[in-house]
Amino acid sequence: NKDMYILGIETSCDETAASVVKNGHEIVSNVVASQIQSQQRFGGVVPEIASRHHVEQITLVIEEALAKAELSPSDLDAVAVTEGPGLVGALLIGINAAKAFAFANGLPIIGVHHIAGHIYANQLMQPMEFPLLALIVSGGHTELVLMENHGSFKLIGETRDDAAGEAYDKVARVLGLPYPGGPHIDKLALGSEEAVDFPRAWLEPDSYDFSFSGLKSAVINYKHNLEQKGGEVNPAHVAAGFQQSVVEVLTDKTLRAAKEYGVKQVIAAGGVAANKGLRASLDAVFEKEGIPFYVPPIYLCTDNAAMIAAAGSSMFESGKRGSMEMNGRPGMEL
Ligand code: KG4
Ligand code: ZN
Repeated sequence: NKDMYILGIETSCDETAASVVKNGHEIVSNVVASQIQSQQRFGGVVPEIASRHHVEQITLVIEEALAKAELSPSDLDAVAVTEGPGLVGALLIGINAAKAFAFANGLPIIGVHHIAGHIYANQLMQPMEFPLLALIVSGGHTELVLMENHGSFKLIGETRDDAAGEAYDKVARVLGLPYPGGPHIDKLALGSEEAVDFPRAWLEPDSYDFSFSGLKSAVINYKHNLEQKGGEVNPAHVAAGFQQSVVEVLTDKTLRAAKEYGVKQVIAAGGVAANKGLRASLDAVFEKEGIPFYVPPIYLCTDNAAMIAAAGSSMFESGKRGSMEMNGRPGMEL
């Protein structure tokens, strides 16, 4: 029984990443070149600039992932790459690099859904148990996904407007905080003794969908009204109130879904899963409910290629193979 080594490649947004994962759950190397410093100058991700960074970095990052793993291409079983969703120009750089690498080394290529990757980041920490409920919260996503088995994804709720991370980044901007704003709001919120009372978007009583644009507008209106009256906003109080609203809705809906579907494991994934307030809240309710709840460490919550290699490993084992005609799929469905 030979070990299985999968090279993962991720370029869907602003991280250029490559990683080697052994037997689907063991990280052998994990390299991430971040563009955050460059994107900070623009207050967000500029697609064409992201693509240019990827093109500069991708070969170096792949080389480094192999060197750190002390492996040569002939030791690998397959190349897994993010096929979508994401910025199309950014996706194409990773896909083309994966194709060239696979072609040159006679390896199969596997196209991975970015969100499947975020979910499978958990497989690098503990085995997944089904049925499993995943809360995916990132800059582009807010989704509740039910998994009955490996490779089976049922979308039971999603955002109707902004993603949770997008709301964090927009509110941070209103408060004059740097990009990406999530970690700054998290820190301010945790250190604040007071919180502004903002609304919660529950939507219909039985809905697992989310909405964050109303909350974002409420923050903007609060600031506007206060400043009109000559007052000054306390960023910590706003951050705390905003975070309370987001965390309460995310926690409540995740708990309700976990109970309805009788899941054996709940996991959180994506950049916003790094949020300390959210982690504490989910930890508390699932401990009380007696359902195992896991969040990967922060470096596996934010975009990385180990998660893509982990998801790709599961696909490889179930016989899935991509084709050399693979294209970037910006709106790819799970
Ligand atoms: O998963 P990710 O790295 O990239 C996407 O696929 O979107 O997520 C990035 C998002 C950003 O919106 C960032 O502000 C948010 O995750 N984020 C956080 C925290 N750390 C990162 N949001 C809230 N609290 C945090 N501690
Ligand atoms: Zn992501």
